[in-house]
Amino acid sequence: MAVDFRLEQLKSLSNNKDSDLSIAKMRWKMLARALQEGKVQDSLAFPGSVRQFSTFGLIHMLTTDDVENDNAKDKWLQCSCLEEPRLKLKIRILSGRITNDELKGFDNTGNVCIWPSEEVLTYYCMKNKELFGGKSVCELGGGMACLSGLAIAATAGAQEVYVTDGNIRCVENVKCIIEQNLQYFGATHVVSRLLRWDVNEDILDLKARFDVVICADCLYYDDGRHALVETIWKILKLDGVAVILAPTRGKTFQNFVDLVEKDFMVERLMAYDTHVWELNCRLKESKASVYDEDLHYPQMLILRKF
Ligand SMILES: C[S@@+](CC[C@H](N)C(=O)[O-])C[C@H]1O[C@@H](n2cnc3c(N)ncnc32)[C@H](O)[C@@H]1O
Repeated sequence: MAVDFRLEQLKSLSNNKDSDLSIAKMRWKMLARALQEGKVQDSLAFPGSVRQFSTFGLIHMLTTDDVENDNAKDKWLQCSCLEEPRLKLKIRILSGRITNDELKGFDNTGNVCIWPSEEVLTYYCMKNKELFGGKSVCELGGGMACLSGLAIAATAGAQEVYVTDGNIRCVENVKCIIEQNLQYFGATHVVSRLLRWDVNEDILDLKARFDVVICADCLYYDDGRHALVETIWKILKLDGVAVILAPTRGKTFQNFVDLVEKDFMVERLMAYDTHVWELNCRLKESKASVYDEDLHYPQMLILRKF
């Protein structure tokens, strides 16, 4: 059963003084209820999405049973992208209910679906692979599949790719995905590991290690924003670059920009890719009842540590 986030209902809150906060809280409340009740939509367009708008159609996913030694209950999909014919990753989609205990624990948004920002980031990385050749790359908050990081590992000739998240369920799933795709990684060293931005011990051995950090849809979280900025700063080498995509989502994107501007050289881009920008313009016209640029279109930030 699909869960409808009732865009109009959310928009009607917009006269409220604290509307951004109210909308964000309401969305996550509805999401939590849907997860508890197991009412998560079963892959209409993009896997596991619980929203009416779930995909820009940039990465294609087909069900596959070509996996070894895996529990038959799990759903595996094979990814492809017109921009990169070598992208053939098999990914495992986490399904089923999230227990009450899990809901009370660490953020579970990465266990829900692969969010559109991650899809767009993957597409962007496939079109700009030269950014990663021979480089040391880290994905932060990559969710259940760390799709962008693994796509880079499979196609871009990076030296190493660390794919990370603060949620252990995501990290274990990504480990399992890596096992099933070893033939694609060549000489690239790929590591899935738990990395919480607010836990200093998690990054002690990663300081100034990475040339490139990537991150999708992780700016919504008021409590995590500061720690995320610090983590990016600490794990990047001098002259390192972070590529971050996230929807505007009220004031959340701007709040992150305000923080990063203190340390990094910052470039903010709405139209970073012609095709993605055209899709955004078309969706605003043709799917206005389900597509909201503020909630769905990822803006890009390029951060340079200098
Ligand atoms: C909206 S999800 C995005 C996941 C994935 N990038 C995507 O777009 O599909 C946000 C992710 O940030 C992770 N996260 C939230 N707070 C975190 C923290 N303090 N440290 C590390 N990861 C965190 C969550 O576990 C989740 O996977």
